[in-house]
Amino acid sequence: MSNLTGKTALVTGASRGIGRSVAQRLAADGALVAVHYGTNESAAKETVAAIHAAGGTAFTVRAELGVDGDVDTLFTGLEAGLDERPLDILVNNAAIIDYSATIDNATVDAYDRMFAINVRAPLFITQRALPMMPEGGRIINVSSGVTWFATPEVVYAMTKGALNVLGRSLAQSLGARGITVNTVSPGITETDMNDWLRDSPEAAERVAGMIALGRHGQPADVGDAVAFFASDDARWITGQTLEVNGGLLLGPAAA
Ligand SMILES: NC(=O)c1ccc[n+]([C@@H]2O[C@H](COP(=O)([O-])OP(=O)(O)OC[C@H]3O[C@@H](n4cnc5c(N)ncnc54)[C@H](OP(=O)(O)O)[C@@H]3O)[C@@H](O)[C@H]2O)c1
Repeated sequence: MSNLTGKTALVTGASRGIGRSVAQRLAADGALVAVHYGTNESAAKETVAAIHAAGGTAFTVRAELGVDGDVDTLFTGLEAGLDERPLDILVNNAAIIDYSATIDNATVDAYDRMFAINVRAPLFITQRALPMMPEGGRIINVSSGVTWFATPEVVYAMTKGALNVLGRSLAQSLGARGITVNTVSPGITETDMNDWLRDSPEAAERVAGMIALGRHGQPADVGDAVAFFASDDARWITGQTLEVNGGLLLGPAAA
C-alpha cells in the first residue's frame, strides 16, 4: 500500500467499473478523492459511500463530458470539493465505446462523440488541472490494449491511440515541473463497458483462453496499477504505458 495521506485526487468516470476501483484504492491509500460521473448519480454515491465505509474521504462531482462547458462544470464542482487544496493526482479514466463504429458503419456523429469524450475531455481537463497541480503531481491516463491489437471498433481504438500520444507528449512537457504522466492500458476487464462478457459465457470463455493468466481482469486489477503510478514508488517513471491485462495475446497457448 502506498501512502497518499494529505493528497487529493480527481478520478473521472469513478461511478462505476475501473474508475470506481481506482477511486476506492486511492482513498484507501489516504487521498481525498473527487468521484466524477456523468449521469449515474446513484452509482457515484455508492462509490463515495463505499469509500466512507472503509474510512476514506471522497465527494461526488457531476459533469457530462463531451458537451459544451463540460470542463467548466467539472472544475466548478471539483474546486468546491477541494476547498482551496491543490490537486495532486489526476486520473483520466472516463470513456465510452460505440461498438457500431466499425469501418463500415462509423458515422461522423459517433466519431465526434467518442473523440469529444475520450480525447478532447482528457486534454482540456489536464490543461485546466495543471495550474492546481504542485511539483510531484501525477497524471494517469487510462487507455486500452486496442492500441496494439486490432479490433473492428476502429474509432474507439483511434481515440485510445491519441491518448497514448498525449501521455508521452505531456510527460516530456511536464517533466520540468516534476509532474509524471503515465498510461495504464487495461486488457479485457469485467465492467459495464464489456457487458457482452456477462451475457455470453461462450465469448467469455474464448476470451479467457487468450489470456496467459486464464481469466478476465477485474476492475481492482487495474485500479491497483493506477495506484502504483500515483504513489511515491513511481516517482522516477514517466512517459510509460503499462499493459495491465493478465498476459493478453502473448502467443499460442502452451501445449
Ligand atoms: N472494461 C474494459 O475491458 C476496458 C478495457 C480497456 C480499456 N478500458 C478503459 O477503462 C476506462 C474505464 O472503463 P470501464 O470499463 O470501467 O467503463 P464503464 O464501466 O462503462 O464506466 C464508465 C465511466 O465513465 C463515465 N462516463 C462515460 N461517459 C461519460 C461522459 N460522457 N461524461 C462523464 N462521464 C462519463 C461513466 O459515468 P456514469 O456512471 O455517470 O455513466 C462511468 O463512471 C475507459 O477509459 C475504458 O476505455 C476498459
